[in-house]
Amino acid sequence: MEMSTVNTQPFSDQRPGTSGLRKKVKVFQQPHYLENFVQSIFDTQQDLKGGILALGGDGRYYNREASQIIIRMAAAHGISKVIVGQGGLLSTPAASCVIRKYKTDGGIILSASHNPGGPDEDFGIKFNTPNGGPAPEGVTEAIYAATKAISEYRIANGEEIDLDSIGTQTLGEMSIEVIDPVTDYAELMQEIFDFKRIHQLFNSGMFVMRFDAMHAITGPYAKRILEETLGAAPGTVINGKPKEDFGGGHPDPNLVHANEIVVLSSGLDAVDFAAASDGDGDRNMVLGRDFFVTPSDSLAVMAANAHLIKGYSDGICGVARSMPTSQAADRVAESLGLECYETPTGWKFFGNLLDAKRITLCGEESFGSGSDHIREKDGLWAVLFWLNLLAVRQEPVDKIIKDHWRQFGRNFYTRYDYEGIDKTAAEALMQHLRDHLTDLPGNPLGDYSVDYADDFTYTDPVDGSVSKNQGIRIGFSDGSRIVYRLSGTGTEGATLRVYLEAYEPDPANHDKETQAVMQPLVAIAKSLAEIESRTGRSEPTVIT
Ligand code: G1P
Ligand code: ZN
Repeated sequence: MEMSTVNTQPFSDQRPGTSGLRKKVKVFQQPHYLENFVQSIFDTQQDLKGGILALGGDGRYYNREASQIIIRMAAAHGISKVIVGQGGLLSTPAASCVIRKYKTDGGIILSASHNPGGPDEDFGIKFNTPNGGPAPEGVTEAIYAATKAISEYRIANGEEIDLDSIGTQTLGEMSIEVIDPVTDYAELMQEIFDFKRIHQLFNSGMFVMRFDAMHAITGPYAKRILEETLGAAPGTVINGKPKEDFGGGHPDPNLVHANEIVVLSSGLDAVDFAAASDGDGDRNMVLGRDFFVTPSDSLAVMAANAHLIKGYSDGICGVARSMPTSQAADRVAESLGLECYETPTGWKFFGNLLDAKRITLCGEESFGSGSDHIREKDGLWAVLFWLNLLAVRQEPVDKIIKDHWRQFGRNFYTRYDYEGIDKTAAEALMQHLRDHLTDLPGNPLGDYSVDYADDFTYTDPVDGSVSKNQGIRIGFSDGSRIVYRLSGTGTEGATLRVYLEAYEPDPANHDKETQAVMQPLVAIAKSLAEIESRTGRSEPTVIT
C-alpha cells in the first residue's frame, strides 16, 4: 500500500463543543482541515492502532468524501479493521450500538445533528469511545491539544473505496467491512420492546401514527422497523428519503421545525400518535392527538412506567437529567426511591453513570432520551418506548400524561432561544449574571423569592472529574427555576438559551396554557439578564 505523509499546520479552532467538532462545510473542505482533526484523534487514542474503528454518519453533504478520507487515514495509521455503514451511513444511536456490539476501539460519527446540511451549511465529526458514548472532556481536550501541535498526517493512496456494497474489502493490511446500517440496531430494539404487542396495536385498526424522518437518517430505520417489521401502514413514515441537505429543512424535531406532524396530529382528522427525529437520529419529539409531550415529561413518564416495558421489567436503578431539564423526573425518582442525578448539558456526562450502573434512564430537555442499551440518546428508541407503552396501557397519550401530572404534579416548562446573537454581547450578559449571583438569594423577584443562585458545577460521582461554568441556575422557593446557558453546538455567533420551569401541584391548574403560565418568569428572566438591551432582541428566535 502506498502512503503519503503530508506536512500540515495547526488550525486554531478545532476544540470540540457540546457534541464534537462542528463547522460550516466550507471550513471542513479547506485543505488538511478534516485530516488534522482525524490524525489528532488517532494520535491520542492509542488503542486504535491495530484495533477496530466504527465509522458512519448522518448522510449530510460531505459525509461520503469525509468517509473516504478517514478510511484512508485509518489504513495509514495501522488500524486493522474499519466497520462502516453502507453508503457511509449510521445514525448516531446505531453507531453507538455497533461500537458496543462489535467491541470496537472507538468510532467516528460524521454529523452536525439537528443543524441544517448542504454545501453552505454545517458538518461535524465526533469521536466515541469503546463504551459507545461521546468522548468525555478529558479525551476531547487531548484531541484539541493535539490539533494545536500537529505538523503532519498520514494517508493511504489508491482507488476510491466502494462504500455501497455490503461485504469485506481490503486497503493494504486493513480490512473494511461495509455493513447494513439498520440491522444491528433493529435487532437491539427487538430485544428491548414487545414487538408483538406493538404489532397488534398497529393492526387493531384503531391506531394511526405518523413518523417524520425529516429527510434525515432515520428514514430507513423507521421504515424497516415501523412499517416492515411492526406492520404500521405504508406511509406511516413521512419524509423518509434521506437527503444530503435534508430537503432544505432544519432537521430538528421541535414544534417549529417538525410542524408537519404538529398539523397531522391536530384537529378532527388527527392521527393518534406522531413523532419525529433529527438529522442523526438521536433526538425525538412525541405528540398525541392535539397534545405535545415535553421531553422533560417524557423522561418522567418513562421512569414511572419502565416496569411495563420488557427490557426494563426487572426495574431501573436510577435516572439522570441534564441540569436545564425540568425536575419532573426527580419527583418520580423520589417516589420510587431511585437515585437521581443532575448533570451538565450534553450526553457525554451520562456515560459514567450508565457504565457504573447508577442509572438506567436519562434525558435532556432538548428532545433527547435514552437508556443503558447504548451510550447515546436515541430517537427511535424513545418512539418505540412510547408505542410499547401505548400498546400496554391502551390509553391515549394525553391521558397518560395527565394522569402522571395528577400523581406527581406538573412541571410547566419552556425554553427561549436567542440564536445568532453577538458573541461578545452574549458572554458579557453571562458575566453580568455571574457577577450578581450572590446578591440574589433571599431576595424577591416579582412574586418569587430566590432560594439559590449559582453557576452550575458538576462533580462526576464516578471519576471525580469537575466541570465548571455549566450554566446559571436561579432557583425559587416554590421549586420554579430560571436557567441561562450559551449553546456549545452553534457554528455562527452565539445562542443564548433561557430555560424556564414552574411547578404546579394543583390538578385544577394543569390544563392551563404553558406560555400564559410562564409569563411572569419570562419577564423576570428577560429583565434580570438585560436581554433586550444587551442583545438587541426583544423576542427569542425559537420557543420550545
Ligand atoms: C444542544 C442541547 C443539548 C444536546 C446537544 C447535542 O447543545 O442543548 O442538550 O446534548 O445539543 O444534541 P447546546 O447547543 O445547548 O450546547
Ligand atoms: Zn442529533
